[in-house]
Amino acid sequence: MTYPRVRKAVFPVAGLGTRFLPATKAMAKEMLTVLDRPLIQHAVDEAARAGIEQFIFVNGRGKHAIDDHFDLAFELDRTLELRGKTVELGRSRDMVPAPGNVISVRQQQPLGLGHAVWCARRAVGGEPFAVFLPDDLVLGDDPCIGQLIRLHERTGGNVVAVQDVPREHAGRYGVIDAGEDDGRAVEVRGLVEKPEPAVSPSTLAIIGRYVLLPEIFERLEERRPTAAGEIQLTDAMARMIDHAPFHGLRFTGTRFDCGTKLGFLQANLAYGLRDPDVGADLAVFAGNELRDRD
Ligand code: G1P
Repeated sequence: MTYPRVRKAVFPVAGLGTRFLPATKAMAKEMLTVLDRPLIQHAVDEAARAGIEQFIFVNGRGKHAIDDHFDLAFELDRTLELRGKTVELGRSRDMVPAPGNVISVRQQQPLGLGHAVWCARRAVGGEPFAVFLPDDLVLGDDPCIGQLIRLHERTGGNVVAVQDVPREHAGRYGVIDAGEDDGRAVEVRGLVEKPEPAVSPSTLAIIGRYVLLPEIFERLEERRPTAAGEIQLTDAMARMIDHAPFHGLRFTGTRFDCGTKLGFLQANLAYGLRDPDVGADLAVFAGNELRDRD
């Protein structure tokens, strides 16, 4: 079967962000800022850099800020215009996708990642699509999702981003059962969500970037909830293995788990140190802080 190229990306953003309370009490966790833009914009920027045109947010109650962020802000833009603040105006306006290219759907109940992706089925239709978990931020020149798309174009199948993790961390991730491995692309023979580290089929953990065939929706439709009542994306993906090629890709780039405080702070430091405006001063400050601590 030949599919059209990957044009759409799904961003599940309905999570509560309990690990960041109280910061996320009245604000979506995806609006937490790394350097100068919210996490969700880092994800959308990565998608856009890889040629994705349509952005589908699966959001929950009280997440209006995300839709507003990707809309024109008329009053703000007009004020900046009147004040001649063209650079700032560009920052506000240039990141807004073309009209009609942002779609929001609601995940009405917190029934897991698989359910969130399934909620986007009508907006995706019958074509391969990308999924981004915005907590996972990947710093690098070659957008992570673009690397996955290129592998998908070669194999015609499903692709997930993978990273080697210490075995004791395997229980935090979806993990692949690895087959043939060329050092970068790894055949996926099975997938298991958050295994007991001792029995994990490998130490290759799934990171929050996926390129999936639309047949995933049929697997999600079967709705086989876990003991906790959640529909896992990993379980539905496991049932795709006999259907089409399935690979994990060891991507190039540095991944930060911005769903944790440590990962979030590391991301801010890494992005800050690379920033032409603040990088040099931040490096001096960080060096001084480290020295004073000793
Ligand atoms: C989710 C997925 C898991 C994946 C992880 C990557 O887990 O279910 O398979 O490895 O994201 O960040 P969560 O972190 O939402 O528990």
